[in-house]
Amino acid sequence: MAFAASQIVRGFSSSAVRNVVIKNVTIIGGGQMGAGIAQVAASTGHSVTLVDTSDDILKKSIKLIEGSLKRVAKKKFSDKPEAGEEFIKKIVQKVSTSTDAESAVQGSDLVVEAIVENLKIKQDLFSRLDKLAPSHTIFASNTSSLSICDIASSTNRQDRFGGLHFFNPVAMMKLVEVIGTPATSQDTLDSLLDFSKVLGKTPVSCKDTSGFIVNRLLVPCMMEAIRLYERGDASKEDIDIGMKLGAGYPMGPFELADYVGLDIVKAVIEAFKTKDPKNPLFDSSDLLNKLVAEGKLGIKTGEGFYKHK
Ligand code: CAA
Repeated sequence: MAFAASQIVRGFSSSAVRNVVIKNVTIIGGGQMGAGIAQVAASTGHSVTLVDTSDDILKKSIKLIEGSLKRVAKKKFSDKPEAGEEFIKKIVQKVSTSTDAESAVQGSDLVVEAIVENLKIKQDLFSRLDKLAPSHTIFASNTSSLSICDIASSTNRQDRFGGLHFFNPVAMMKLVEVIGTPATSQDTLDSLLDFSKVLGKTPVSCKDTSGFIVNRLLVPCMMEAIRLYERGDASKEDIDIGMKLGAGYPMGPFELADYVGLDIVKAVIEAFKTKDPKNPLFDSSDLLNKLVAEGKLGIKTGEGFYKHK
């Protein structure tokens, strides 16, 4: 793994390195979110290593990045297609891929995890990486529903561990939620806030609470929409139109659920339920469970609440 030596501005404290300027980023997980984070990090001059379990998955991740960059280039270089090609090539060159997370993190200033929403798997991953990453390296999880504190507990760098929660599509959505646990140092939070700004995003801070800000509001709203539809009170099409034209949402709740992935919506609401079992907003939906069991996960599988070409 060819990593340039980290250019870090440091002020030492007893346990941690302060004010890490993030240059080299490792993203673990090459799905929609991981690929999107890799894309924006590479687009803003970072050296990125994207890690997943197979070369086939990583090839698909690079295709996702290229597809999104094509949309950006089409607008940016509408009258100069060659310049657009060059723009895409330069950004993609900043992303190297690897199936070896342990060696990838060794040159990293920041590790962002965007893998499956499973606490044990995330803890195992970070516990392994903790032994190999340099001491200054900040660890962050892009989890949408799990507790950052629970994930960080598997490491010995809880002061250098935070949440960095992006939104889909990462290239377009301006928000990043930066999550600190009681153990996260102020220097780590500052580095994550600075990094988000360098990516061209607007960061907001939130405590390590279920769903942080956006999902805590958005996912119960989606579940309420599903329940409204399950009761037969309105069609999903009318609910979507209602929320778009009556509340100014860019997508209706069913369109958005298909876009995000029904498996993700289900995982988020189940995680909320585990933390707060009595809250009726977090009740499951038979319809959502059925669609997920049938593999109808939304746009990524061609069908969810709607059929997609
Ligand atoms: N990459 C690059 N550009 C993209 C893109 C992508 N993946 N997706 C859309 N765009 C660009 C298009 O090129 C287009 O650009 P111009 O208008 O400048 O030509 C622009 O975005 C609009 O795209 P479309 O015309 O195709 O469609 P749209 O107007 O409906 O916008 C959207 C698409 C930006 C996705 C918009 O519908 C939207 O904001 N939807 C809501 C998305 C949302 O709520 N995301 C959060 C989900 S929750 C989450 O992610 C958290 C979690 O943990 C579950």
